[in-house]
Amino acid sequence: MLLKYSFSLFTLCRLIIFILFFVHSAFESQVSSQFIQRDPLLNRSNVPKNILATSYLGGGSHLAPMSEILKILMDRGYNVTLAAPGNFTANSHSYRSIPQVIVSKKAGTELGNQELMKKMFLEETNVRKFSGAFDHSAYTEYYKIYKQTAEEINVDLFFCDIGMNFACFDLAWELKKPVVGFASSPFFAVIPPPYKSDPIFGCHVSMENESFYERFNCAIIKPLKLAWLFISMADNMNSQRVKLGIESYWNPRARMDNILILFDTFFGFEIPTAMLPLHQEIGPILSDTYPDLTPALDSFLNTHPRTMYFALGTNVFTSPQNIAILLKSCLELINHNIIDGVIWATVKTNVTELMSLSDVDSPISDILNNNYPHIHITKFAPQFAILSHENTKVFLSHGGASSSHESMYTATPMLILPIMGDQFGNAEKLELAGMALRLSKLNLTVDDIVLKIKRLLSEEGFKKNAERLQFVAKVNSKRKYRAADLIEMVMNTIKYESVKDENGALSVNNKALLRDWITPNTRMGFIRGNYIDVYSTFIVILLALVGGFGYVSFKTTKFLYAKYKGRTINSKSKKE
Ligand SMILES: *[C@@H]1O[C@H](CO)[C@@H](O)[C@H](O)[C@H]1NC(C)=O
Ligand SMILES: *[C@@H]1O[C@H](CO)[C@@H](O)[C@H](O)[C@H]1NC(C)=O
Ligand SMILES: *[C@@H]1O[C@H](CO)[C@@H](O)[C@H](O)[C@H]1NC(C)=O
Ligand SMILES: *[C@@H]1O[C@H](CO)[C@@H](O)[C@H](O)[C@H]1NC(C)=O
Ligand SMILES: *[C@@H]1O[C@H](CO)[C@@H](O)[C@H](O)[C@H]1NC(C)=O
Ligand SMILES: *[C@@H]1O[C@H](CO)[C@@H](O)[C@H](O)[C@H]1NC(C)=O
Repeated sequence: MLLKYSFSLFTLCRLIIFILFFVHSAFESQVSSQFIQRDPLLNRSNVPKNILATSYLGGGSHLAPMSEILKILMDRGYNVTLAAPGNFTANSHSYRSIPQVIVSKKAGTELGNQELMKKMFLEETNVRKFSGAFDHSAYTEYYKIYKQTAEEINVDLFFCDIGMNFACFDLAWELKKPVVGFASSPFFAVIPPPYKSDPIFGCHVSMENESFYERFNCAIIKPLKLAWLFISMADNMNSQRVKLGIESYWNPRARMDNILILFDTFFGFEIPTAMLPLHQEIGPILSDTYPDLTPALDSFLNTHPRTMYFALGTNVFTSPQNIAILLKSCLELINHNIIDGVIWATVKTNVTELMSLSDVDSPISDILNNNYPHIHITKFAPQFAILSHENTKVFLSHGGASSSHESMYTATPMLILPIMGDQFGNAEKLELAGMALRLSKLNLTVDDIVLKIKRLLSEEGFKKNAERLQFVAKVNSKRKYRAADLIEMVMNTIKYESVKDENGALSVNNKALLRDWITPNTRMGFIRGNYIDVYSTFIVILLALVGGFGYVSFKTTKFLYAKYKGRTINSKSKKE
């Protein structure tokens, strides 16, 4: 009886579950036929379209990554114009479609005082020498050209390369137009946290393991010294600003506050740090296509399975003595069968001058005449294609930003001979990342070079770390589209945050335009923004409580002690 009863209960339960399941699945199948497609398209109508991109220094290392972003924006329907020194876009294969206003004939390091530049390449480099080599009176000239171009194209947004390009930021604020900054490293654009510094100040990119003395020196003394340099530079620029009728200011970052700044770099290469929403890393920016190997280089690489590629970039050179040491090292490495081939892109190195040097011995002159079978000399080389070839085992480089990016992207270990500017910092970063070793341009020896190349090729870690960074670089190289997205977002806010003046031109307030990204503390003032008022009140309350408690317990103890003492005296006297 009990069994029968429980059995029917069991059946009933199963029946109910079955019905529930049926209803549920019927309901679900009804829902599954009712999906809609998410609309990913942006409505760009009525979004302002005219962009003026500018660079003070120009040259491929600054303009190529900016142009990559500009090309994407052009594809999305924006009107883009570039104002920069040198005839860049017309002579480039990839960026020919970008109209350029040529600000001056010379570009890059050619803009500086050539005597001082040469001294800087050959001697010790610091930030004072670097700044001193450039003529800051060019500010006025650039400002005028930028202004004229901006009026011609009816500019809606400025995209400014940060390097010494104060005219671009000033003009944007003056015309009340939004401005987006661009830099290959956050170092000069934002105040770095104290644990980050740079060899150009005689410090290190990471101060992690430095002594108290070094950390004090690099966090306090060096920045104070640098402030003097900035003050004299700002003084020069302010006198020009007054003549142009624009507001003068002393803080070099004053026109970079509250604006979006894009950094062509990525963590892995860069020392990690917390960043503001306004400061976004979007690098490494690389082109989608690169020039291929020439037949001569192709056959050289195919017949030399352990090739070293040697190039110092398009801006710098080193002393003939250093070149001789480097070439002797190449011979030594080939003789010891550590490598079997070298491709040397001479670029800025004057080979004629080298040959006329009295102490050049016969193997070196054979090399210079391109008669030495294992060393291939060419003025220019398709760098990316060479680095991509599996037989290129190591890259002897100056450590410029784009060379570093390309080396990481192709997982090529590096030996770095930094010459100026950010190259010292890049060399340290790559060494810390474990894919490179460094040389000193002031202390170059054949033994040191041979030893380091040997290590780079024999120790597994260098190649492994290069491959680790390759993955990171490849993933992050998609972010040039993100850079274009971010610029579009700034463009779109103009629609909502601008006011029309009497001529119908839109003007924005750069201090508040990007409120979606500006952290509230910047509006709260120093004390409220850092919560100094709240924390100091808390500390006062805490001290008062601790003090009060201490006082009360002291008083109580004293009272109890006195009472106890009195009692013992009393009892003693009673006993007596
Ligand atoms: C885009 O927005 C504009 C108004 O800003 C509107 O007139 C137009 O119809 C929209 N286009 C589409 C495809 O939604
Ligand atoms: C873009 O530039 C072209 C040529 O200068 C001009 O004809 C066109 O009107 C511009 N487009 C916009 C949206 O301003
Ligand atoms: C820039 O280069 C292009 C292509 O070589 C040339 O046609 C043009 O005349 C040059 N412009 C200037 C101003 O030198
Ligand atoms: C500092 O030392 C630690 C521990 O030896 C090491 O892991 C780290 O990489 C070092 N950092 C730098 C910047 O040298
Ligand atoms: C290279 O050096 C030689 C000899 O010193 C000189 O005549 C020539 O002008 C230099 N070439 C360049 C491009 O500087
Ligand atoms: C030069 O480099 C060697 C190692 O290659 C080092 O022992 C020496 O101290 C360095 N000299 C200077 C002045 O830096």
